[in-house]
Amino acid sequence: MAVSYKLAKRICEVAPSATLAVDAKAKSLQAQGKDIIGYGVGEPDFNTPEHICEAGRKAITAGDTKYSAKRGAELKKSIVEKLKRENNLDYKVEDIVVSNGAKQSLFNLLQVLIEPGDEVIIPAPYWVSYLEQVRLAGGTPVILETDEKTAFKITAGQLEKAITPKTRLFMHNSPSNPTGTVYTPVEICAIGAVIERAGILAISDEIYEHLIYGDIHPLSLAAALPGLKDQVITVNGCSKSFSMTGWRIGWAAGPSEIMKAVSKFQSHATSDPAAFSQAGAAEAYGKFEQSNAAIAMMKAQFDIRRKLMFNRLNQLKGITCIEPQGAFYCFPNVTGVFGRTFNGMTVKSPMDFCAVALEQAGVALVPGEAFGSKNHVRLSYATSNELIEKGLSRLEKLLNS
Ligand SMILES: Cc1ncc(COP(=O)(O)O)c(C=O)c1O
Repeated sequence: MAVSYKLAKRICEVAPSATLAVDAKAKSLQAQGKDIIGYGVGEPDFNTPEHICEAGRKAITAGDTKYSAKRGAELKKSIVEKLKRENNLDYKVEDIVVSNGAKQSLFNLLQVLIEPGDEVIIPAPYWVSYLEQVRLAGGTPVILETDEKTAFKITAGQLEKAITPKTRLFMHNSPSNPTGTVYTPVEICAIGAVIERAGILAISDEIYEHLIYGDIHPLSLAAALPGLKDQVITVNGCSKSFSMTGWRIGWAAGPSEIMKAVSKFQSHATSDPAAFSQAGAAEAYGKFEQSNAAIAMMKAQFDIRRKLMFNRLNQLKGITCIEPQGAFYCFPNVTGVFGRTFNGMTVKSPMDFCAVALEQAGVALVPGEAFGSKNHVRLSYATSNELIEKGLSRLEKLLNS
């Protein structure tokens, strides 16, 4: 008998992750023997620092391959100490929940905080998963547009105007994926004051906090004003700082009642992350002097690549790019290419530009549409100088053709 089923409405309404899709397309073309240079994926290309790998290996050898209660306590303690040391925030171990990546931390939070009809304010351009995770929770995303004029930052006034009686949550992300913008402490305090006055909650996604290149000092939204700790949940993780994307360790710290609910939700969804991954993460935060040396090395490399990519992009015909201050992305404006035709393909959108770049220059970029922009594309510079030079030369040739 033919099987009869239908997919749930909630998944039918969600778009797949564009960044993962671009990476998959680039890899499949590579597998067919095509020479593709990929700037799609947001993943550091360095090995995880050796002392962290060693801690993971030791944990496996010692039989740390079970459900992870013991490791959980050790890692949470090291996160509490990190929050105190680096972010000037005091939390109890019970107020930390460790998850399978910051992506899951965010998903958990939206599931426990958002009900159908609740509004979640998201500055655009935004990280791809914010919008879809809000939708998966039944919430209504309220988008705040930004552009180069404010270096892709919202103003406190813009936030204030967007708040309605239905607003439950504000999503803050600095340094930002995809724009690389970094809010200054003054800007964060101004946004914090609006949140405090409105009595709404905020999630502060600080996953790129260690990757800031200029002289802007990072400030956690929860630490910006004395009362904000009760309204802000800080999300962070090991993926970007310690080049640990595959270990899948993210975490959230926030008000006790919310974190208890997150813990309950996760206990039925996935349980805790792998015990040996938690051992590696505990080492990363615990042996912070060693980790900081590794971060400094990676950051210095990223900074060289950042300048190289940013300068080369601005030399391309029809493309302009503001200097990214954090994370590892450039987010150039490609509207100057709109209307041009390359081998019969006319570019009318970032999506068209990415298709032309991939098919005619062998360069994989992510279209801005995925991040809520109709004018930009995203390139990750988490790749070698050589590949940055090679890919940008290909784009130059294409655009001069
Ligand atoms: C802004 C932002 N938040 C969260 C994440 C999730 O990171 P992970 O799940 O690897 O910890 C990413 C990853 O790309 C990101 O760019």
